[in-house]
Amino acid sequence: MELYLSEKKTDEQIKLGEYFTFDHIINEDCDLYNKESEELIFSFKKGIIPKELYDIDPKIVKHSKEGSVNRGNAAGSATTEGLLRGKENWKAKPKYLCDKDGNKIEDGKSSHTSYFKYEDGRISKRMRSNTVSSQSIGGFSRNANLPCRLTYWTKNNLKSYESIFPLTSYISDLYFSYVPDKWLYQFDKYKNSPEEYLIPDTNFSTLTINQDFRTASHKDKGDCKTGLTCFTIKNCGEWSGGELCFPNYELGINVEEGDLLLFNPHVTHSNNKLKGTGRMSFVLYLRDKMDKCYEGKHALEKPN
Ligand SMILES: [Fe+2]
Repeated sequence: MELYLSEKKTDEQIKLGEYFTFDHIINEDCDLYNKESEELIFSFKKGIIPKELYDIDPKIVKHSKEGSVNRGNAAGSATTEGLLRGKENWKAKPKYLCDKDGNKIEDGKSSHTSYFKYEDGRISKRMRSNTVSSQSIGGFSRNANLPCRLTYWTKNNLKSYESIFPLTSYISDLYFSYVPDKWLYQFDKYKNSPEEYLIPDTNFSTLTINQDFRTASHKDKGDCKTGLTCFTIKNCGEWSGGELCFPNYELGINVEEGDLLLFNPHVTHSNNKLKGTGRMSFVLYLRDKMDKCYEGKHALEKPN
């Protein structure tokens, strides 16, 4: 199925960090283009990834359940419960959200980060986000503090990391076969990036793994601007719902194990409510600044 649709809601009408539910669910092969710009929004392929490729090291599945506090709008507006998650063993726990002067803020009424009051009455020194189960593995581009590198977990778990390579190269080959122009733009950047920080035999540097993470509306940051993100699911339990949705078009996609979704990560997306547990998602992409590892602050030395 090929769809050319106009946006039902513009970006200005969709508040980032909010949760949405859409009933219009796509469950078959489908390419969606924006009717006016003719830009590809997503390409969905049902049941094309062999099941055995999901047979990865269990350590990766375990890692995907670990908490992260840096997922921005995707983690939704801060709530006391969201801030408490993963901090159950803290001596002083967050009691409620507040502004920097300690005035109480109702749950969900703040942005994705908030100050909070501890049980003992102190006000937090830093703003915090909800904890969600989301981790990145593979390479990362340089930032204000660090040079290009493999993520800490990846560097310390290379054998486990290698167990994803059959899946990631299979997905990259599918990406090339379905959307070769975007793949080639992306490959221009990939081939000019340091090999040691890329996922080998693919077009990606980085894999984000999430476990039962219902995202609020957000756009991904730091991804290759001319490329696409590849998305699939590993089934690790019993669950339903959680469809990946595109609020501008008011529809969602039922991605299951074996399916591949290629999508533009700079178009707003979110998830429907998830019931049950064990929905592990794989988000494969190339970091946009991966080819800038040899420049600027924290530049790596170029090999001879
Ligand atoms: Fe995203």
